[in-house]
Amino acid sequence: MRTLIANFKMNKTPSQTKDYLISLLSRFESGKVDLTLCLPYTSLAIANLLCQGRDIRLGAQNLSDEEEGKNTGEISSAMLKDSGVDFVLIGHSERRKKFKEDFRAINRKIKLALKNGLGVILCIGESLAERNTLKTYETLKDQIELALKGLYENELERIVIAYEPIWAIGTGKTPTKNEIEKSVAEIRRVVGDDFSQNASQTVKVVYGGSIDSKNIRQFLSIKNLDGFLVGGACLDPNEFLKIISLI
Ligand code: 13P
Repeated sequence: MRTLIANFKMNKTPSQTKDYLISLLSRFESGKVDLTLCLPYTSLAIANLLCQGRDIRLGAQNLSDEEEGKNTGEISSAMLKDSGVDFVLIGHSERRKKFKEDFRAINRKIKLALKNGLGVILCIGESLAERNTLKTYETLKDQIELALKGLYENELERIVIAYEPIWAIGTGKTPTKNEIEKSVAEIRRVVGDDFSQNASQTVKVVYGGSIDSKNIRQFLSIKNLDGFLVGGACLDPNEFLKIISLI
């Protein structure tokens, strides 16, 4: 079954999320896709209520890199777990850029998420400058190694690596099918070298960046790609259901 992850980013109030979910859930069929909705913190409670008993996992979009205590405004992994969250996005490029999140903090966040029983969606990807100077693979390798440093091989089972080239996010541009396939192979090669061949196959890898119902078909046959991470196109339930029906 393919993995499909929605990243709402900073969109929809709890009431808007409620309306969205009522619309989505009335037409969502279980068993077709492994679906995770990464919502703003403020929408998690209503989503947890409405998604009870449905085949949908809830995700958050960030967590603190500290366990608890004096961190005003932060949310811990234990708080997420207790709010019905199964997954957390870590290291999204918007957080790396705007909030200066580095891979050391990302590594700490991953360890705390795993410790508290959350699955991790780790976002990696090259900038346009890195792409233009042919540094895509080098960048991916560095990011994976810093993010996953000190993890045990069996923990890779609870990690989804989302390949999101920064230049493809929200721009309507995407890499070619061939380019994504090569990056996915490179990601698995690095995991294989650093952990094991088994881990390189069990870790899930998805693609994100300007995916919508019009362009997704061309990416469905990419080898060893487990699914997709969708931003803008998940916000309209009709468009998102169309994507679900295609994958
Ligand atoms: P878009 O699908 O809007 O390009 O966003 C992708 C993304 O950042 C998902 O995390």
